[in-house]
Amino acid sequence: MKISNNQMFRNFNKWCLGILTVMLFTGSFNANAQGEGLFKAKCASCHQPHKDGTGPKLFQARTKWADAGAKEEIYKWVNNWESAAATNPYAASVAASTPNKMTSDPTLSKEQIDQIFDWVDAQPDPATMTEGTPTDGGPAGSATTTEESSNGWVWMLLGIIFVTIIMAVGGVRRQLKSVTGENLREGSTYTEEFRSWAWKYRKYVGFGGLVIFIGLCVTGILSLGTIGVVEEYQPSQPIAFPHDVHTGTNKIDCKYCHNTVTESRTASIPSVNVCMNCHKQINGRTAAQQEQIAKIYEAAGWDGKQYTGKTKEIIWNKVHVLPDHVYFNHSQHVVVGGVDCKQCHGDMTKMNGTAMVQPVSELNKIEGNIALTRPTLTMGWCIECHGEKEISTGTIDTKNDGYYNEIHKRLLNNDKALYGKYLDDGKVTVKELGGWECAKCHY
Ligand code: HEC
Ligand code: HEC
Ligand code: HEC
Ligand code: HEC
Ligand code: HEC
Ligand code: HEC
Repeated sequence: MKISNNQMFRNFNKWCLGILTVMLFTGSFNANAQGEGLFKAKCASCHQPHKDGTGPKLFQARTKWADAGAKEEIYKWVNNWESAAATNPYAASVAASTPNKMTSDPTLSKEQIDQIFDWVDAQPDPATMTEGTPTDGGPAGSATTTEESSNGWVWMLLGIIFVTIIMAVGGVRRQLKSVTGENLREGSTYTEEFRSWAWKYRKYVGFGGLVIFIGLCVTGILSLGTIGVVEEYQPSQPIAFPHDVHTGTNKIDCKYCHNTVTESRTASIPSVNVCMNCHKQINGRTAAQQEQIAKIYEAAGWDGKQYTGKTKEIIWNKVHVLPDHVYFNHSQHVVVGGVDCKQCHGDMTKMNGTAMVQPVSELNKIEGNIALTRPTLTMGWCIECHGEKEISTGTIDTKNDGYYNEIHKRLLNNDKALYGKYLDDGKVTVKELGGWECAKCHY
């Protein structure tokens, strides 16, 4: 019997290596990316890791504060510098150090603040880097960061255990072949051979299996709601419809075309008749425009003078797609919640192609948007906003202020203590009204 040529075993090895690679790869998800996102969204306008700007450089700020005996105060400072300065002399001296005022962010948790500082402290100082390194003035050297997170180490360890098991299997196989050859009955299949080996070492096999199983479960759970598989999704469309020309240059209101967005779950895509309201007259100046607009005429059955009745459907590909088990409602967000389209879809008045799922890093650059860290359209993204967004502001008209005033009044009358708890962080969030309940979003 030629075990060394055994196909099945070779495949088994490949599988193991494949799984191992996936595990290590997933392990490289790290808190650092979140720290970077938060820093860029909330601090980078005034701070850099290694250069003073509006605010001082933040490299090893925690160490500085700890040395000054204000180890915990630094978190308070980031949340609310006035209150830190009022209660701590070191904070007061920092506040007096520049004529500028910091913008505090009470929503950041201690963990998030640590993530920010962890990221900042991992940035190499451009001054100590080789000469001629271009410094663009932005946060230094972000591209060169290769910090492992603690999370990554766990996976490394699991990976090592895994490799050991693979090697053990290989070693034992060799042993079986040479030393305990008498165990191998002539003609026994590989499966039988493996089974008897696995039984003999059942403790290790069992343990190894358990480790792998738990590892895969944890990976699965961690990666659910964090992998941005749909970010930057931009399917091709039957007509190269540019949003910027329509909503930017020509200032057409979103609701002119997406006319159900304030009343229903869905925003709707306009029918060709809506296009024809204008394009009967506008047939394009350049050849490229005419070619695209001709497709509208073909769909509407318009021959330039009259409708021929020969229509053709335009099939737009859906860009933003949630799985069937998720319930999302536009009017609830746009009207009741007062969330602007650009918070979730980006600035469509500048979109010079067809629509695309904007990555959260792009959305964070837009003024007025709540900065989020989870990839767009994942569950993490939805619930992160529900945890941050307060329901008392951000409304688009007074009608809704009334609605929220009413909610606040009712909360106050119902249970004053609970209302006080909600207001601990200075606001009542969507989460506190049930926006994290599974059944709100899942059928
Ligand atoms: C609007 C500008 C602005 C923003 C945004 C801002 N800061 Fe500041 N920050 C300052 C200024 C100005 C100071 C200097 C203190 C002073 O003069 O009040 C400062 C001081 C600090 C200090 C003390 C530095 C030292 O040398 O001891 C820390 C720490 C800090 N900021 C952290 C942050 C973090 C973290 C964020 C993001 C969550 C942030 N800041 C966002 C302007 C800003
Ligand atoms: C003249 C009509 C028109 C106007 C005005 C318009 N849109 Fe659109 N929109 C379309 C068409 C047609 C599509 C489908 C083509 C595509 O995906 O680019 C679309 C697609 C979209 C999509 C992607 C839909 C999907 O499948 O997920 C979003 C998001 C969107 N529009 C947002 C907006 C916003 C926000 C505004 C206002 C700033 C706006 N639109 C204004 C016609 C319009
Ligand atoms: C809170 C985030 C959020 C806001 C705010 C928002 N959308 Fe959407 N939009 C989504 C999501 C999520 C989907 C995908 C829905 C689905 O697949 O069921 C979507 C889908 C769409 C679509 C595709 C058609 C549909 O209904 O599935 C259009 C068009 C659209 N949005 C336009 C708009 C416009 C215009 C506004 C502002 C008036 C807006 N959206 C505000 C999250 C948002
Ligand atoms: C409210 C009026 C209006 C509506 C409705 C409208 N358009 Fe337009 N569209 C315009 C204008 C104005 C231009 C710019 C023409 C120019 O630059 O000469 C334009 C240009 C275009 C162009 C060429 C853009 C370029 O520069 O490549 C396309 C393609 C187009 N529209 C598709 C559509 C489609 C598809 C619809 C329906 C979903 C639609 N339009 C609805 C007003 C409209
Ligand atoms: C940018 C912030 C933001 C994002 C992102 C967001 N939401 Fe919301 N959501 C809100 C706000 C604000 C409300 C509160 C509206 C209200 O007061 O009823 C809300 C309310 C809801 C509700 C009703 C909750 C209740 O208590 O009745 C559901 C369901 C919901 N959102 C689903 C989703 C889903 C699904 C997604 C992701 C695809 C999502 N939301 C993403 C801001 C957001
Ligand atoms: C604010 C809305 C919201 C809430 C609350 C919510 N989910 Fe989700 N959930 C989503 C969205 C959106 C997706 C789809 C994510 C994707 O496609 O990447 C999802 C996906 C899932 C999935 C499938 C993962 C996948 O990749 O399709 C599971 C399982 C799940 N949620 C469980 C839960 C449980 C359990 C709770 C309650 C603790 C919960 N969800 C609360 C919005 C929500």
